[in-house]
Amino acid sequence: MIKKCLFPAAGYGTRFLPATKAIPKEMLPIVNKPLIQYGVEEAIEAGMDTMAIITGRGKRAIEDHFDISYELENQIKGTPKEHLLDDIRILVENYTFTYTRQKKMKGLGHAVLVGETLIGNESFGVVLADDLCEGEKKGVLAQMVELYRKFRCSIVAVMEVPKESISKYGVVSAKEIEEGIYMVNDMVEKPPANKAPSNLAVIGRYILTPDIFRILEKTPPGTGGEIQLTDALRVQAKRNMVIAYKFKGKRFDCGSVEGFVEATNYFYKKFKHNTHNTKSKG
Ligand code: G1P
Repeated sequence: MIKKCLFPAAGYGTRFLPATKAIPKEMLPIVNKPLIQYGVEEAIEAGMDTMAIITGRGKRAIEDHFDISYELENQIKGTPKEHLLDDIRILVENYTFTYTRQKKMKGLGHAVLVGETLIGNESFGVVLADDLCEGEKKGVLAQMVELYRKFRCSIVAVMEVPKESISKYGVVSAKEIEEGIYMVNDMVEKPPANKAPSNLAVIGRYILTPDIFRILEKTPPGTGGEIQLTDALRVQAKRNMVIAYKFKGKRFDCGSVEGFVEATNYFYKKFKHNTHNTKSKG
């Protein structure tokens, strides 16, 4: 039902300099897979088949990653390493990757608006690849699609965060309508701790209805002088058209060095477990 997923990926990744000087932050690997590939796999699991990626200058590695590399294929064909390309081959062969560039960094809201050309007039998912999520039983986006079926409005994934870190996030003011599901009535981007309306922080997974584009066009720069997606969602929230969902699973903030290392350790354990099982299966 929701077929397209938007990946805003034009940012500079300054928190990871110098690593991100010549490679996009979305291409930083957690174990053996770049961050954006985890996001793409999550979108596919949620039933989406078209990845709309907002890139910028210096981000060509993303396009190359989701394409065939004949030279590499040729080199490793028939060698024991060939299976290492299996997962990415499946993505490249079966799904569509579309791109447009955000020429000026004017904020997340602006990046989403730039994506209208790839999305058109339909509801769509949004993944911020540096929030790496692992859902319980099913992926976080898949959980959100299920909610969309029921509510047919924008959905934001939220988690409870301690007071001292609330100012790093978009925060919702909301009323719980079912366990873990909230009707949002207001939102604020990166409030100081003492002004935060709740401890429910938005993380980088959204389902947006296409009216968001017309709202974004009219949204003036907000926090940090940037056009904020939170401010556009706030307009929908005032119309009771935003649901916040306390997702079931884990989320790693891979935009910070600490979160990145935490994710690496977590996924390395799983990786080791899987390679051990594959080996013992011969
Ligand atoms: C963005 C959003 C913010 C959200 C966060 C989740 O902020 O603007 O509302 O809570 O992602 O990671 P950023 O982290 O890009 O500054």
